[in-house]
Amino acid sequence: MNKSTPSAFITGASSGIGKAICLRLAADGYRLGLAARRVDELEDLAATIRSKGGEAEVFRVDVSDTAAATEAVRAADDTFGGLDLVIANAGVGRQRWAGKARFSDIEPTLSVNVMGAAATLVAVLPRMVERGRGHLVGVSSLAGYRGLPKSAAYSGSKAFLRVFLEGLRVDLRGTSVAVTDVQPGFVRTPMTDDNKNPMPFLVEPEVAADHIARGIARRAAVVSFPWQLATLVRGSQALPNGVWDRALGKATV
Ligand SMILES: NC(=O)c1ccc[n+]([C@@H]2O[C@H](COP(=O)([O-])OP(=O)(O)OC[C@H]3O[C@@H](n4cnc5c(N)ncnc54)[C@H](OP(=O)(O)O)[C@@H]3O)[C@@H](O)[C@H]2O)c1
Repeated sequence: MNKSTPSAFITGASSGIGKAICLRLAADGYRLGLAARRVDELEDLAATIRSKGGEAEVFRVDVSDTAAATEAVRAADDTFGGLDLVIANAGVGRQRWAGKARFSDIEPTLSVNVMGAAATLVAVLPRMVERGRGHLVGVSSLAGYRGLPKSAAYSGSKAFLRVFLEGLRVDLRGTSVAVTDVQPGFVRTPMTDDNKNPMPFLVEPEVAADHIARGIARRAAVVSFPWQLATLVRGSQALPNGVWDRALGKATV
């Protein structure tokens, strides 16, 4: 294994945005640790990357098992001789009207998007600080700025990740470990395939990967896209609660 090229570990590599980021980073010369539960998809992706001359290793992990997530990132860190980049991208989202919600509907979202992401991000953070080299990236969402209909748990989970990443960034200032919060709008992936609601400014995964790769390269604090939706969402924070609730709230199943 060539240890002179940069290395990255990414969760949620088996489809959608994560898979597109992997293909883009492999083309940019990264050695990759591909993580998710569906190992066949990961092996196919690894074979594609290797067929183009790249390097990729598969790590089967369910990130809602935080001990397993921690172990997988540490194993990749050992395999690659010190990871340059850790990307917490794995996420789930399920729409359900809050009036019919049970905790069992909410728990998977929190287990993956909150607990899994946090475990992934801090797994080798002390090692990165010690080495004076590293970069943490979390894929939150523009959905994390305000509570969205039928998505209280999802919006809440992404709000956690957004603020968590900001806190990490503040703490790590001056350590040579960068932190990037990726906030996508709508991206065409299996997650949005079933979404019957309007998805303004929808982008393809390759476009998302391009935004993310360029943000990583410049070690940006925040990467949000598309700019039109990002501007609207940020502006929505100034709306009074009554206006927001009337505009988006609807007591339906
Ligand atoms: N698509 C959008 O419009 C959009 C917008 C904003 C933010 N995002 C965020 O972008 C990220 C990627 O989503 P996507 O749109 O690319 O959806 P996706 O195609 O459904 O990908 C989700 C990925 O997460 C992995 N994952 C889910 N649960 C997991 C678990 N317990 N352990 C390990 N991996 C798990 C899945 O792999 P396995 O099933 O193989 O485990 C899959 O690779 C998510 O965090 C999502 O919230 C998406």
